[in-house]
Amino acid sequence: MADITLDADKVEELKAVCVKFNHDGGELINVLHAAQIIFGYLPAEVQVIVAEGLNVSIAHVYGVVTFYSFFTMTPKGEHPISICMGTACYVRGAEKVLDEFNKLLGTKTGETTPDGKFSVSSLRCVGACGLAPVVTVGEKVYGRVAAADVKGILAEYGA
Ligand code: FES
Repeated sequence: MADITLDADKVEELKAVCVKFNHDGGELINVLHAAQIIFGYLPAEVQVIVAEGLNVSIAHVYGVVTFYSFFTMTPKGEHPISICMGTACYVRGAEKVLDEFNKLLGTKTGETTPDGKFSVSSLRCVGACGLAPVVTVGEKVYGRVAAADVKGILAEYGA
């Protein structure tokens, strides 16, 4: 992976978060949450800052980032698409919906399209089970989505 240059202001913001949490390694998940809000994702360069800021090993930070599905190491697309794979959505066909997004965008779950426009991820229950299967694109929520609806949803975003 090519090295990336992090925005200096954002780096300072993240260091301030580590200070706020008293450099306490027990706060790793909270700090990673904050880091993902600041940077949008958690590339290796951000993980190094967190490890140094909390006096924990980089391996430990990496282990936590890869364990929890809500942390991501790839930048999200301009239109982040999330497909709920909670039980209610799953039994109503969420997997087919997810497959259709990946098929039409040429992605795998967790990836971003090469033009940076769309990213596809799966989530646990988003608390709207009555609308299952649920898809979100950015802040917008789509309910009772079928595989046949996917093309139309993508078209709304210029795909
Ligand atoms: S299982 Fe999808 S919203 Fe609850």
